[in-house]
Amino acid sequence: MTSVTVVGSVNLDLVARVARLPSPGETLTAHGVTRHPGGKGANQALACARLGATVRLVGAVGADPLADEALALLRAEGVELSAVTAVDAPTGTAMIQVDDDGETTIVIDTGANGLVSFSDSWGTDVVMTVLEVPDDAVAAAMAAPGFTVLNAAPAREVPAEVLRTVDLLSVNDDEHAILGRTADLDALPAVAVTHGSAGATLYRRGRATASAEPPPVDAVDGTAAGDAFTAALALSLAEGGPDDAALRRACLAGALTTTRAGAQPALPTLDEIRDYILENPAWLR
Ligand code: RIB
Ligand code: NA
Repeated sequence: MTSVTVVGSVNLDLVARVARLPSPGETLTAHGVTRHPGGKGANQALACARLGATVRLVGAVGADPLADEALALLRAEGVELSAVTAVDAPTGTAMIQVDDDGETTIVIDTGANGLVSFSDSWGTDVVMTVLEVPDDAVAAAMAAPGFTVLNAAPAREVPAEVLRTVDLLSVNDDEHAILGRTADLDALPAVAVTHGSAGATLYRRGRATASAEPPPVDAVDGTAAGDAFTAALALSLAEGGPDDAALRRACLAGALTTTRAGAQPALPTLDEIRDYILENPAWLR
């Protein structure tokens, strides 16, 4: 069983469903508002657990009622939370709007996530992090032993010396462009770039080794699709899977996440991935 440490963010997501995303200065009426556990780090931790890994999360929450709500699914599904500390800042929140096509806009209040510091990776096989935690935590996580994975989201520049310690960088096209301004991404061992519904490409030291398209699905909510993609790809590559199959599985995990509402409630399990592949042999080629 693959072991994973995620150094990452925990948010409570407040989600408004709207017919379309509002324009500046506009007031819209939502179909309804729901609350779900989220945060890119927590989502990737839970995604890894649902895909069969043993997972620890290093994170921070506030000493407030939102913390229990935000951690509920991680706790229920066996993610080790002893390194999630209660700090003197509110639990992170994300204000999310989802339109009828499943497109989203997200505004984050970092809160406690701004106080995350790396403690230990316990020698796990995989160490993953995201950019919703401070630079020091990102740098320390990527310097840990093991297969290191950086999901550079939300986009910001990352120092070149930190990128040099990353085994797998997972980015969307925008994040790829932003990081590429100050770093030579072609020097990295592996870079996965997602292109929304057009799929993803995997590069090894600048050479494209695989590209994949997601299967056709009815998307209702794109939230956490990138988190599911990164988690699935990280596990497959850490387990030595071939690039092509690993990238296809990751695209499938992302696509399945878009078929359900919310962040963590939508993340697929290993059984769902297997069932899809069994039922759709043509899609796998
Ligand atoms: O990637 C999706 C996540 O981004 C949401 O769960 C939200 O909390 C934001 O961090
Ligand atoms: Na979703």
